[in-house]
Amino acid sequence: MIDLHCHLMPGIDDGAASLDVSLQMLEEAAASNISAVCVTPHYNDEMTCLEYDRRFRILVKQTLLQPIRLLRGMEYKYSDLLNLDEFVTLGGSSYLLVDFVAPAIDLRNVENHVLELKRKGYRVLAAHPERLFDLQDIPALKQLARRGVVMQMNTGSFIGIHGDEVKKMAESMLRCGLCHVVASDAHGKTNRKLFVNEAMNYFRSNYGDEIVQTLFHDNSRLIIDGKVPDPVMPSVSLSPFDHIRRLFVGA
Ligand SMILES: [Fe+2]
Repeated sequence: MIDLHCHLMPGIDDGAASLDVSLQMLEEAAASNISAVCVTPHYNDEMTCLEYDRRFRILVKQTLLQPIRLLRGMEYKYSDLLNLDEFVTLGGSSYLLVDFVAPAIDLRNVENHVLELKRKGYRVLAAHPERLFDLQDIPALKQLARRGVVMQMNTGSFIGIHGDEVKKMAESMLRCGLCHVVASDAHGKTNRKLFVNEAMNYFRSNYGDEIVQTLFHDNSRLIIDGKVPDPVMPSVSLSPFDHIRRLFVGA
C-alpha cells in the first residue's frame, strides 16, 4: 500500500510533533504493510514548494534506515488552489490532494475549476469528503467524480474514529461507488494514528479480501502512476452466515 495522505512531516502544523513521532509512525506503517508514504502537511503561505523540498530532503535523510519510501505531497485547501500556480503533487504524479473544506463550498461551482486544473495537467484527489459533506451532497459528489475527481477516504472514518455520522456517510459513499482509495490522514501516534490494519479488517470482514486489494493497494499505485482508478462498487456486506463460514473454513 502507498499511504497517499499522512501528516508525517515533524514539527509542522498539527502533524507529527517531533522526529521521534515521525519515526514511530513509520514503524507502525511498516507493520501495516505500507511500502511508501506521501508526506502531506497542510499548505500555508510559508510552506512554499521550495520550503517543502528543503524539509522533505532533511526528513528523507533522517529516516534513511526505515524500510518505507517517502514521497512528496501537500494537502491544499480548495481556496489555496485558486491563488497558486505551482504545486507539490502526490509523488510527482499529476494529482493534487485537495481538502474542499465544506460547508462554505458549493460543490456545483467546483466543476469548472477542476476542468481548468485538468487543462493545466493536474488531477484532483479529494481528501476525506466523507468528513466534509452530507448525504444530500452525494449527487454533487457523483457529478465531481464523473468530472474525474478521485475520492480519498480516511481509514478512521470507517471504524468510527470521526463519529457515527461520518461512518454512515463513508459507508453510503462506498455503496455509491464514491470511494476510490483509502489513506490514513494520520497526524501522530495517539488519537489520529494510521488505523490502517483496523480499517483493512473492517473491509475484509464486511466486504471480503478483493476490495482491500483494490482500495488500499492497487488504486493508491494507480494514482501515483497518474491514472484514474475505476469506481469501486462493493458487493453487499457479508451475511452472518458468511462470517461464520469465513471463521471456520477461511473462505
Ligand atoms: Fe489531512
